[in-house]
Amino acid sequence: MHPFFAPTGATAIPLHFVTAATLNAVAGKAGASAFAKAADFTGKPGQSLLVPGKGGELAAVLFGIEAGAGHADPFLPGRLAGILPPGTYRFANAPHDARLAALAIALGSYTFTRYRKANGRTLKLVPPASVDAAELSAIIEGVTLTRDLVNTPSNDMGPAELEAAARKLAKAHRAKIGVIAGSTLARDFPLIQAVGQGSARAPRLIDMTWGNPKHPKITLVGKGVCFDTGGLDIKNDAGMLNMKKDMGGAATALGLAHMLMARKIPLRLRVLIPAVENSISGTSFRPRDIYRSRKGLTVEIGNTDAEGRLVLADALSLADDEKPELVVDFATLTGAARVALGPELPALFTDDDTLAGDLAGIGLAENDPVWRLPLWRPYEALLDSRIADTNNVGGGHGGAITAALFLRKFVGNAKAWAHFDIFAWTPSAKPGRPEGAECQAARALFALLKKQYC
Ligand code: BES
Ligand code: MN
Ligand code: ZN
Repeated sequence: MHPFFAPTGATAIPLHFVTAATLNAVAGKAGASAFAKAADFTGKPGQSLLVPGKGGELAAVLFGIEAGAGHADPFLPGRLAGILPPGTYRFANAPHDARLAALAIALGSYTFTRYRKANGRTLKLVPPASVDAAELSAIIEGVTLTRDLVNTPSNDMGPAELEAAARKLAKAHRAKIGVIAGSTLARDFPLIQAVGQGSARAPRLIDMTWGNPKHPKITLVGKGVCFDTGGLDIKNDAGMLNMKKDMGGAATALGLAHMLMARKIPLRLRVLIPAVENSISGTSFRPRDIYRSRKGLTVEIGNTDAEGRLVLADALSLADDEKPELVVDFATLTGAARVALGPELPALFTDDDTLAGDLAGIGLAENDPVWRLPLWRPYEALLDSRIADTNNVGGGHGGAITAALFLRKFVGNAKAWAHFDIFAWTPSAKPGRPEGAECQAARALFALLKKQYC
């Protein structure tokens, strides 16, 4: 169980959720009618009231939630993470969704403490009766793993450190793990090699497997670009500033893998992470270089900053070889996806309409939304090269779509494939979502796989 959860029956301060309409009744029950009135607490969404007891101790908390269905932010109770004094709490009544409310408070309590001590505010919650606290614990741990990996700056999170993180996770769940590097990588994974060869920190392909080989084969592929300078097509200062997070896809795959393994979902899980640094040196790959990919397609480099799709291409072709039920990749792939959908909505690409519909619905239910963009066939022509089978870039328009269409060239045998173009970052804090690294689309996928295979 995650330390966020207190034992059932622990002494706990009650949290009362109210709307303007229920304020009188709920405040009455909490013995807080007079104090709420005196403090001008009206139960507006997001408003909170710390209610003292007779001896001045904290006796109860009131928190305003949105009335009715279709609320703007199911994570609103996550705001309590920044409000409540250290202590143990319980839900005195049900918010809209007790599971998401508990999750939001847990995820909102996250702090990244590797380089500076936390401010020491520890919150605990007695799990609401309706909630599977063991499952929620696995989800919180997975999200925390993803956030920690992404928040860690590149000097401490290069390809070797990303490998170490994957090995640690594999060990914890007794998964098998292998790493391809050196001359074998150069021979068998030419695109991963090309992107990574300019860095003093050697590129590698991490390959982890877990579960009963007879169970359905699900493979997660995560973009592990441990820093993206853009390569010789160098990014400007603003564009480069946050590129420690360019391994966010890898971190998301690992966080999701933790959730699935901790809950022992009956799958044969495989996680593939091409781990590289896209840097600049005399050995960097260049614009107009042409490489023969693992799959055999020749790729002309139109832009060295379109590196994520290159490392994914070789990893996807390996994933595809064993004809899995489902291949899912996560990648901080394009700025264009952010222009289209903003930071909170990962773009989802798939040819499988049922999968797309299921993911959209479950994403909303989990408050881990994803939004489908089209694999628009006619734009494939934008990727044409004059002298190679394909270019790695498709020009200025529809950049997230042409990136996804490039990836699709390397998947063909898998029964289904889904690609998530994620941001992996919260630019400014929201309830349940502290500023900094974020784990996107993994909770939605966890819920879907659990539903489909349990
Ligand atoms: N890692 C970036 C994409 C990115 C940038 C994601 C900022 C999130 C925030 C990726 O490797 C990249 O540089 N993509 C280029 C592609 C272009 C050169 C075709 C982009 O989106 O500009
Ligand atoms: Mn790039
Ligand atoms: Zn990148």
